[in-house]
Amino acid sequence: MSTVETARKTAGDLTHSPGFGNEHQSEAVPGALPAGRNSPQRAPLGLYAEQLSGSAFTEPRARNRRSWLYRIRPSAAHPRFTRAGNGTIRSAPFTETVPDPNRLRWNPLPEPAAGTDFVAGLWTLGGNGDVTRRAGMAIHLYHANTPMTDKVFSDSDGELLIVPERGGLLLRTEFGLLAVEPGHVALIPRGVRFRVELLDETVRGYVCENYGAPFVLPDLGPIGANGLANARDFLAPVAAYEDVRRPTTVVNKFCGNLWTATYDHSPLDVVAWHGNHVPYVYDLRRFNVIGSISYDHPDPSVFTVLTSPSDTPGQAGVDFVVFAPRWLVGEDTFRPPYFHRNVMSEYMGLLEGAYDAKAEGFVPGGGSLHNMMSAHGPDRETFDRASAAELVPQKIDDGLAFMFETRWPVTATAQAAGAGHLQGGYDDVWQGLESNFRV
Ligand SMILES: [Fe+2]
Repeated sequence: MSTVETARKTAGDLTHSPGFGNEHQSEAVPGALPAGRNSPQRAPLGLYAEQLSGSAFTEPRARNRRSWLYRIRPSAAHPRFTRAGNGTIRSAPFTETVPDPNRLRWNPLPEPAAGTDFVAGLWTLGGNGDVTRRAGMAIHLYHANTPMTDKVFSDSDGELLIVPERGGLLLRTEFGLLAVEPGHVALIPRGVRFRVELLDETVRGYVCENYGAPFVLPDLGPIGANGLANARDFLAPVAAYEDVRRPTTVVNKFCGNLWTATYDHSPLDVVAWHGNHVPYVYDLRRFNVIGSISYDHPDPSVFTVLTSPSDTPGQAGVDFVVFAPRWLVGEDTFRPPYFHRNVMSEYMGLLEGAYDAKAEGFVPGGGSLHNMMSAHGPDRETFDRASAAELVPQKIDDGLAFMFETRWPVTATAQAAGAGHLQGGYDDVWQGLESNFRV
């Protein structure tokens, strides 16, 4: 079997531990998980106990994140890391270009060169904040055509929200295996080591690297106890380990730079674990879309799947928002997204089909950046059509778009600002919106 076929068979057999923020527990070998304590004098089966902290020890219980890992070899037993080239990965602070108030839109990345794996294929578009302050975010795209082999990656700078657009990924993590296909997302917590294998010959998609507080489900307020993304639909892996003694390259992103060390074994050797600092996957089509059943439509914050709170209530370091299939029934209402200027900055990507505010030019795998206070909204064709449409109930089900929305302006990297796939003339989509004013 090819590596893709092997990975697909593995992905088809996976089981999960459901629930967002749960105290999960899992053991790949019966008896590997100690009962009643975290760090017994001798851990079961000769394993080493290790705590992985995703929050400060002293953070409030509701925000506290840690997991206990029971592994074949301790993580501490590793050789010295040395600097490696950063390739096309960039980090905050983003200073290669000046922040740009213009509306920008990109086509998809060009096809990857032969032999490109997930890490080599990460390409940073821009971001904000400062990795050393654990604040802000980065927007990456990825494309790959080669599985990572004897190589794992971990990101000390933040958690990684992976949003596939083309092709699926098999994520072999310290906590076990997850598969993620277009229309689904995967989250790898800060510091968790993982290897990416491919479920298709060529893959591509988006990554939000969140330097700030870990993503949580948004509060629901008057919506009530249910709705939007439901906690039970988030799936963590079950424990799975590899006991492999051969050289393995460990790539660590630390304060903006890549560092590597060659271990004499695979660090994906966790036999059992418990805790709430865990990777997970989520099917975006499980999102319970809330909308208006009278007139107007709510602000797009109602489509928030996950939010990373900042130190100012209500201002997210980054929100992950999905525009999922939904009904539009508003009476006397302009139904596409309205024209607006937003203090938050918006990066949008398209996973399939079309987006209801853009008739053309916004394509799957591409993306648009509408920075702080930049004016945007439906293009002329969409405006004309929606202004004249007969307002019968309408199902929007021909596309799946998402947004990374952040409280701070996004500064593009030099490679994004100068990319051949940066579209010229994006402003033109709003040309021809002439005055209709009559007195
Ligand atoms: Fe917007």
